[in-house]
Amino acid sequence: MTLTAGPAGSLPATLTTGNLGVAVRHGGRRYVNPTLVLQRGERMRATLVNALEEPTIVHWHGLAVDTRNDGNGSILVAPGERFAYDFTVSNRSGMYWYHPHPHGRTAPQTYGGVYGVVMVEDDDERALRAALDVTAGTTEIPLVLQDRRAGTGYAPTAADLIHGYLGDELYINGVRCPFLDVATRLYRFRILNACNARTLSLAFRTAAGTPVPFTLIGNDGGLLPSPTECTQAFLATAERVDVLIDLRHAGVGETVFLHTLAFDAMHAEGVMSAPVAPAAMGHAMPRSPAEKDHAHAGTWPEGAARSLLELRVRKRMMYDRRIPDELSAIARIATANAPERPFRLGFAKGRWRINDRVFEMGVTPIEVARGTVETWLLRNYHASMPHAMHLHGFAFEVQARETSPDAIAALAVDSQGRLPTDLGRKDTVLVWPGESVRVAIDFTHPFPGPQTYMFHCHNLEHEDAGMMLGVAVT
Ligand code: C2O
Ligand code: CU
Ligand code: CU
Repeated sequence: MTLTAGPAGSLPATLTTGNLGVAVRHGGRRYVNPTLVLQRGERMRATLVNALEEPTIVHWHGLAVDTRNDGNGSILVAPGERFAYDFTVSNRSGMYWYHPHPHGRTAPQTYGGVYGVVMVEDDDERALRAALDVTAGTTEIPLVLQDRRAGTGYAPTAADLIHGYLGDELYINGVRCPFLDVATRLYRFRILNACNARTLSLAFRTAAGTPVPFTLIGNDGGLLPSPTECTQAFLATAERVDVLIDLRHAGVGETVFLHTLAFDAMHAEGVMSAPVAPAAMGHAMPRSPAEKDHAHAGTWPEGAARSLLELRVRKRMMYDRRIPDELSAIARIATANAPERPFRLGFAKGRWRINDRVFEMGVTPIEVARGTVETWLLRNYHASMPHAMHLHGFAFEVQARETSPDAIAALAVDSQGRLPTDLGRKDTVLVWPGESVRVAIDFTHPFPGPQTYMFHCHNLEHEDAGMMLGVAVT
């Protein structure tokens, strides 16, 4: 398989919303930003061709691979050059994704449209589809959410670089204000937040605004052990949720809406207005007095409600399947002797930092012995904003949320303060201001020799400005 990252103008039948995309030729046809379907255990061979005008590399977000195949930015592909990936897909079934990762240029290239979905399938996945009678493409639909500003350019202000780049419009699978004709049965939506920075609070509503509960069956680490009924789920940048919505009792002619609900985005304005040195950020930054204190001068502040998708009930049909009580068996990570590693997420000298540091290529402040288990305590300051923390190569088991803001604590489903989306495994975890999230990580991997990975905030403006640390697994 050959993936060509390039300007969308040169990519026929483009589905991308930006000016860039990934073209793949398969079975005599050309696809732009295709969903790649891989089987667990399969060998994946792909060649990346860089048709962009700047260096790039594609990262397989969520896949457990070695450093060379991780595409973490330590190897870059120059314009006109190519790079061969070759790895075995060892992950559980789930929704993963691919996006560029050249340090300092991840945000503009991803915003530009160089990304897509990777679906990994295994026996759990096949059993679930059979039990629910869902079919990918008709009753099981991936929803890739990205917010954009008018036009295709990426032109962040100084304030955007601190808060993250927010769009004014939401696109789903490249379409604005999308709708789907549905029947009175169960649907599965696999949702990826591909926004550079925006957190969403997803919920279903009737036209009259009545909540329509949904069943959460998976997150960014794949299927949960068992389903949870929810009325809302936060989805931060790079996170995924797998949800079932039961429209059996909907009337023909009704519409059910997917919304993002209003919430307090918890941006602590005090710290954010500090100026950022343009040289340190690596971007040209136009400034105006008005933009200095605002997260985004646009029309859709973070946390403002929007309707995202319409499900128009068109047809009555019989459907009598029930959701299995068990979806997947996931062994708990044994943490009895695990050392705890503390991380502080904060802002100083114009930059977001992890443990007061910013990223330096080739430097690995975190050193872990392969085969060991650690717990990481991710603490966000009160005077901060939410940060979506992501680790390459290894999954998190969320163990606890502590000192969560009231609005988050109110959603907890257990005495450890965890949210429904924290169960199972994850690769990205949102840490709210004032909150501490404890995760367990098993650093077992099969690759020979030392490997390096990245640990970073997935707010892409934060990541590009250095809210990232190298992790050596020796
Ligand atoms: Cu989507 Cu470094 O990751
Ligand atoms: Cu990643
Ligand atoms: Cu951040």
